[in-house]
Amino acid sequence: MKTYLVTGGAGFIGSNFIHYMFNKYGDTIRMINVDVLTYAGNLENLKAVAARDNYTFVRADICDSEAISRIFEENEIDRVVHFAAESHVDRSIKNPEVFVRTNVLGTLVLLNAAKAAWELADGSFKEDKRFLHVSTDEVYGSLEEEGEYFYETTPYDPHSPYSASKAGSDFLVKSYMDTYKFPANITNCSNNYGPYQFPEKLVPLVINNALQGKKLPVYGDGLNVRDWLYVEDHCKGIDMVQEKGRLFETYNIGGHNEKQNIQLIYIILDTLQEMLPADDPRKAHINRELITYVTDRKGHDRRYAIAPDKIKEEVGWYPETMFEEGIKHTIRWYFENEDWMKRVTSGDYQTYYEEMYE
Ligand code: NAD
Ligand code: DAU
Repeated sequence: MKTYLVTGGAGFIGSNFIHYMFNKYGDTIRMINVDVLTYAGNLENLKAVAARDNYTFVRADICDSEAISRIFEENEIDRVVHFAAESHVDRSIKNPEVFVRTNVLGTLVLLNAAKAAWELADGSFKEDKRFLHVSTDEVYGSLEEEGEYFYETTPYDPHSPYSASKAGSDFLVKSYMDTYKFPANITNCSNNYGPYQFPEKLVPLVINNALQGKKLPVYGDGLNVRDWLYVEDHCKGIDMVQEKGRLFETYNIGGHNEKQNIQLIYIILDTLQEMLPADDPRKAHINRELITYVTDRKGHDRRYAIAPDKIKEEVGWYPETMFEEGIKHTIRWYFENEDWMKRVTSGDYQTYYEEMYE
């Protein structure tokens, strides 16, 4: 039975990954989820798995080397899937320090703990151990022209403190692969959307605000392009890379689904109208008049677009969820989980929101 150490499993992608893996492998794997529970971590996302005998939650900071080493000493870990990070670009512009601490130092702590547990006396590594570092397409910078794509060979050119800290963490993982032959992979994925996403991010923010009749803040001219992938397809890609990918390789994950931000907002508004019952009073206020153009994000990257050729050819991964279907699943999930939304948008988030959009 393989034992997984998942970091940041109480966040958006991490919690989807834990659900995906238990749905796929059931009782044939063990999962340990280590998460410090920042504002973005929510154990409610994992209610459905909390009572499983093959699931353990450890509340710890990935920068705490003693706590992380202890997990490796007490468990024979076979797979590390490293999600834990500060993940929001706007927050990194206001407060870069915590991004460097968690994303760079935290990754180093994890690498050292895994290396210490997996390395043999001769400097080689135990059989069948794998560390997967979950990263982002933002490390490649910004594209201008249609028809240009990010490949694994595209030079890194991060612009925000967030993407710079992720680039730093990618380089640390690469250095461990190059220097020690440490058994790892890096995946660089495009923008995810789906259930359990914290509403500071564009898709859940628009769904939540539109349902409440609040303004929809659009940065700059609204023509920035993001490449959207349903979160479960990302989870499938991570699992496939760990099981079928060549060690030491980087794989880009994305589904060729580019949309301008304004286009995406129109689609969400139209889909909300289509999905709400005819007598729902919210239908009256959900329209394009809610859109409000606000000051642009500093250093706002213009366009992201992933070329997923390598993961398709070498690993056989392809996205299963078409955008029209994925956005409906997502909206349905937010309809059915209004209490979740109310709880995560209370308290600290309210203060963040007021400061951010003042
Ligand atoms: P998220 O912000 O929703 O979740 C991050 C999780 O990490 C939270 O549960 C938080 O409590 C935990 N965490 C933060 N600091 C920690 C620390 N010091 N110790 C332990 N746990 C800590 O993030 P997400 O959107 O789920 O992203 C997960 C990973 O995927 C990140 O590494 C991110 O860079 C990467 N990624 C995200 C996207 C996306 O579209 N969201 C796309 C590509 C890559
Ligand atoms: O590309 C992958 C990255 O996608 C991940 O690495 C990040 O963790 C994740 O947060 C996401 O980053 P973005 O900055 O692209 O996502 P965000 O949802 O914050 O913004 C999407 C686009 O929408 C971006 O062009 C900024 C714009 N935007 C965002 C918000 C929150 C707005 O116009 N208004 C808003 O209120």
